[in-house]
Amino acid sequence: MDCFDLTGRVALVTGASKGLGRVIATALAKAGADVAVASRTQADLDVVAAELQANGRRSFAVAADVTDESSIGSMVEQILARFGRIDILVNNAGIGDTQAVVEMDTAHWDRVMNVNLRGPMLCCKHVGPYMIAQRSGKVINVGSVMAARVARYMTPYCSSKAALVQFTRTLALEWIRHGIQVNALCPGYFLTDMNQEFFSSQRGKQFIKALPIERLGESRELEGAAVFLASEASSYVTGTALYVDGGHGLA
Ligand SMILES: NC(=O)c1ccc[n+]([C@@H]2O[C@H](COP(=O)([O-])OP(=O)(O)OC[C@H]3O[C@@H](n4cnc5c(N)ncnc54)[C@H](OP(=O)(O)O)[C@@H]3O)[C@@H](O)[C@H]2O)c1
Repeated sequence: MDCFDLTGRVALVTGASKGLGRVIATALAKAGADVAVASRTQADLDVVAAELQANGRRSFAVAADVTDESSIGSMVEQILARFGRIDILVNNAGIGDTQAVVEMDTAHWDRVMNVNLRGPMLCCKHVGPYMIAQRSGKVINVGSVMAARVARYMTPYCSSKAALVQFTRTLALEWIRHGIQVNALCPGYFLTDMNQEFFSSQRGKQFIKALPIERLGESRELEGAAVFLASEASSYVTGTALYVDGGHGLA
């Protein structure tokens, strides 16, 4: 299955210090890629990069804030200086929170939109010219099952993820002539820092029971989809949203 082999490719994964970003970075490295890992916390990234290096891959930890365009520009320059190219961009950094609209602090709305929607756009803006010049590239925007479903008090999160899917489709059309595929990877619920508190609660446990599959996703269940979207295996797939949600979207 050579089409899944990422040997010689360079990936950048944002929000890779923990959670699903770390899972995706590790999966791409296992498939052969060298991986630059980014988030705001250098110490956490150093741990991830050391782990990838211990497994025989080149890795580079670069602190960057996806809400800050100059930080993104500097991140991309540092990765290009280190690895010379970026073949795979995974826009994974994201935040979630709950707040009722009538109580909405507009700074809260802006924060979620800035990280979840504007951040991926800015990363594409800064990585795009290099992918266009090399006439190849893979962009994976990490959406959510909440791009298509809704939950009470989650308007900024659900809106940002739905918009990210439309951003994905629009950019896929824009970049198809450059040989770049742009897709969204939309997870259902996987246990991470983002939701640990909720899923430890009684309400969270009931929620899990109500899922069609009656359990959360396990990180290994996201790996194959990430490698698929990052590799030659998906060369005829662009502008799609791949849901890895244990059938959550069906209920
Ligand atoms: N967990 C789930 O069940 C689930 C389900 C559907 C979708 N998702 C999506 O999957 C992605 C990862 O979620 P997760 O559950 O793994 O969350 P997480 O464990 O909270 O990790 C979030 C990551 O994003 C980074 N980050 C946050 N703000 C950032 C910023 N401004 N600039 C750069 N990096 C930033 C964090 O690192 P620093 O704090 O060091 O910056 C961390 O590495 C998100 O887009 C989320 O919406 C998750």
